[in-house]
Amino acid sequence: MAETIQHDVVIIGGGGAGLRAVIAAAEAHPDLDIAMVSKVYPMRSHTVSAEGGAAGVIKDNDSKENHIHDTISGADWLADQDAVEYFVDEAPKELTLLEHWGCPWSREPDGSVAVRPFGGMLIERTWFAADKTGFHMLHALFQTSLKYTQVTRYDEWFATRLLVENGRCQGLTAIELRTGQVRTILAKAVIMCTGGGGRIFPFTTNAAIKTGDGMGMAYLAGVPLKDMEFVQYHPTGLPGSGILITEAARGEGGILLNNKGERYLEAYNLGTPLDVDDPEHPVKRSMELGPRDRLSQAFMHEQDQGNVFDSEFGTYVQLDVRHLGEKEINRKIPFVRELAKNYGGVDPVNEPIPVRPVVHYMMGGVATDISAATELPGLWAAGETACVSLNGANRLGSNSLTELLVFGARAGEGAAEWAREHPDFDTAALEAQAEAEQRRIADNFINKQDGTERISTIRTELQTAMESGAGIYRTEQSLQATADKIAELKERFKNVGLDDHSLSFNTELTSALELEFMLEIAESLAHSALQRTESRGSHQRTDYEARDDANFLRHSLARYNAGGAPAIDYQDVVITNWPPAERVYGAEETVVKTDDV
Ligand code: FUM
Repeated sequence: MAETIQHDVVIIGGGGAGLRAVIAAAEAHPDLDIAMVSKVYPMRSHTVSAEGGAAGVIKDNDSKENHIHDTISGADWLADQDAVEYFVDEAPKELTLLEHWGCPWSREPDGSVAVRPFGGMLIERTWFAADKTGFHMLHALFQTSLKYTQVTRYDEWFATRLLVENGRCQGLTAIELRTGQVRTILAKAVIMCTGGGGRIFPFTTNAAIKTGDGMGMAYLAGVPLKDMEFVQYHPTGLPGSGILITEAARGEGGILLNNKGERYLEAYNLGTPLDVDDPEHPVKRSMELGPRDRLSQAFMHEQDQGNVFDSEFGTYVQLDVRHLGEKEINRKIPFVRELAKNYGGVDPVNEPIPVRPVVHYMMGGVATDISAATELPGLWAAGETACVSLNGANRLGSNSLTELLVFGARAGEGAAEWAREHPDFDTAALEAQAEAEQRRIADNFINKQDGTERISTIRTELQTAMESGAGIYRTEQSLQATADKIAELKERFKNVGLDDHSLSFNTELTSALELEFMLEIAESLAHSALQRTESRGSHQRTDYEARDDANFLRHSLARYNAGGAPAIDYQDVVITNWPPAERVYGAEETVVKTDDV
C-alpha cells in the first residue's frame, strides 16, 4: 500500500459542519495538524443548496424561551432539552461569527440583521441571505478555513471505513479518486460530518452525494444510529425533480391552494389565515408556516380526497406568491423565481408554483451526546450526519444551518482536546485493517468479473421500497415489506458487478460503495420504524395513531448486526424545563417574552 498518512484531527466531510469543525479545532489548538477529507470539493457540498435561512434569537420581540419551546414542541417532545437549550444559547453567537467571517446577511432598512418567519416558529427569527443562505454561509466558512495553514485538504477522496483499535477510533481508509488508490489516514480524533442520506428515497431535495456514507461508516464501526425512523418531508418540492422551493416563499407570505382554489390548511388546525403583516397579532405566522410534518400530512389527506392536481410528474398543490409582486419576489426570493421558471416551467410572478412533499432531512443519525461525541472514543459527529438530539421527531426549518455551526464547533473543540491527550497510534494493527479494506474493495468490486446484479437496479428497488413502505404514513405491514425487501437487496448486493474496472475516477465504484452504505442505513430506518408502535412527528403509523409517551418518549438506537436485522434498543429523552405536552399551533399559541435575549 501507499505510504500511511498521519494527522492529529481528521474531519470527514467538507460541508458546513465539517468546515466549522475545522475552524474550531484549528482555533482551539493551533499546534495541531488537521485534515479534511471530502468526496467532493467543499464548495460542492450539499450545504451550498440550503436556501431559506438559519434560526437564532436576535430581536427584542423574541426570547430564547420561545426558540426552545418551538424546537421542543416541533420535535414532538423527542428532543433532548439540554441540547436544545445549549443550541439556542449558542445560535446568535455563531450567526454573528458568520457575519464577521463575511456572510452577507440580508438587512432591515435600518441596517440591522433581517429575520423572516419560518415553519413552526412562534415568531420571526430566521436570519437569511436572500434565498441563497447556504451558498453564502458555505463561502464564508470555506474562505475562513483557508487562513489556517495547519489544515491539509483531501478533496475528492472517498472515505470507506473507520479504523478502530483498542476501543478507539484512530483513523480511516479513503480512496484517492484521481488514482483509485486506497489510502490509510491515521488520526487521533475523527469527526464525521458527511450529511444525511435522503437518497435512499426516490424523490428528494438531497444532492446525489447524500448517500449516508458517514452514518454507514459509524454504524459498521459499532456506533448506534439514533432515531432513524424520523424522516422529514418538506411540503414544497417541485414535482419531477424534487428541487426545493424554500419555506421562505411561505415565510414571505406565499399561500398553498388545492385544486378547488381553497387555502386547504384551514381544515388542519394550524391556525387562521393570519396575515403575516398583521401588526396586532403576536404570532406573525400564517397557517402555511405550520410545521413540516403536519403540512406534508395535510397534503396526503388532500390527495386522498381528490383535491390535488395531476401531472405526468405526479400529484401536486399550488404555492401562490403572486400577491407579493415582482419587486418583492426579486428582492426576497429571487432563487425561487429562477428555480420555478427553469425547473417548474412557471414564472411565479404570474402563476402559482406546483409543489408536493419531498424527502428533505433525516432527524436521526449517528448517536452523539451534547458534546457531539459518539460512544466510540475518538469519534465525533455533527450536522445532519449526527443525532444529538436537537430535532427529535420533526425538525423546524432553519434550525439545521445553525445546528451545523453550533455542534460543528463543539465537535472541533472536543476532538482537538482529545487529540492532544492521545498521542499514540496502534500503527501496525491499523495498517493491517487498511490492507484488509483495500483487498475487500479489490475483490468485491474492482477485480470481480462475474457479478450479475446492477447497481442501478438495486438502488431503484431500494428507493421504491422506502417510499412505499416507510413514507409519510406507515404500517407494520408496509414497514415489514420494506425491511424484507432490504434484506433481499443486501443479499443480492453481494453479487453486484461493475462494468468499469479502471482506477481513476471510477464513479461506478463509488456508486457501489455508496449503495452499500444506503442499504445499511435504510435497514436501520425500517427496523427502528417497525418497532416504534406510536405516531410522533414525522413518524405516522396508521395502525398506532396516537403518541405514546408511556412507552416511546425514548430515542431508538439501532446497532449493526452482521448476522441479520439491526438490534434496536432505547435511551431516555433528556427533559429539563419543558414537560411533555400536546403540540398546539395557531390561535392557542402564546408568545413567551423575557429580557433574556
Ligand atoms: O425551505 C427551506 O429553505 C429549508 C430550510 C431548512 O431545511 O432548514
